[in-house]
Amino acid sequence: MRKLTYFVACSIDGFIGDPSGDASSMYAYVDEEFLEYLKTEYPETISAEGRRLLGLEWLENRRFDTVVQGRGSYQLGLDAGFPSPYGHLREYVASRTLTESPDPNVTLLSGDLVAAVRALKAEEGEKDVWLCGGSEIAGELADEVDELVIKTYPQIYGSGMPMFGSGFRVADFTLESVRVFGNGTLVRKYVRKR
Ligand SMILES: NC(=O)c1ccc[n+]([C@@H]2O[C@H](COP(=O)([O-])OP(=O)(O)OC[C@H]3O[C@@H](n4cnc5c(N)ncnc54)[C@H](OP(=O)(O)O)[C@@H]3O)[C@@H](O)[C@H]2O)c1
Repeated sequence: MRKLTYFVACSIDGFIGDPSGDASSMYAYVDEEFLEYLKTEYPETISAEGRRLLGLEWLENRRFDTVVQGRGSYQLGLDAGFPSPYGHLREYVASRTLTESPDPNVTLLSGDLVAAVRALKAEEGEKDVWLCGGSEIAGELADEVDELVIKTYPQIYGSGMPMFGSGFRVADFTLESVRVFGNGTLVRKYVRKR
């Protein structure tokens, strides 16, 4: 069974973006050391445009072969002229309003989202499925998340977009690893207690 991994960036107080979802204040922490970590451990999470700008198109996928995004998150790339932001992965975008996929590599999910993600997890294969976000679909898929990789940047937002846009409910996870970076960023990896 493939895992669904929510690999996400957040502030110290657990927000993945400002109240509108904008997470650009966190980019400043992607310094040389952190970029090296991403290249080595999670190369597929560097966007196609990021790879192009950094000359990293050669990077091979290490953990994921599939990404799931909500249309809110996908829209950012679409508006910037990138209809296939993670073209090195199979891209699935949840939307009830997009009627036609903007790119041949992007499959729209408009039916039962949980069932669709369960089907992706049940496929044969060694690589996992990356839940990119944002908040709304992470909330809907919260019970399907097997692993959490949380990049916590040393910033406080006060308020903003929560990691899971769902109602209150408790789910327990086991801390598997913590990596500390020179600039104060932490990456914590948790696996769901079953
Ligand atoms: N910090 C990070 O690592 C990180 C990562 C990802 C995103 N983000 C931020 O998150 C923000 C977007 O989050 P968000 O919560 O606004 O939006 P979102 O979760 O990305 O997308 C919500 C949209 O997904 C579609 N959707 C939701 N449930 C669905 C279902 N069951 N079936 C079909 N479609 C469904 C709907 O699209 P339609 O309206 O088209 O129906 C809905 O408007 C962005 O601003 C981005 O910056 C941050």
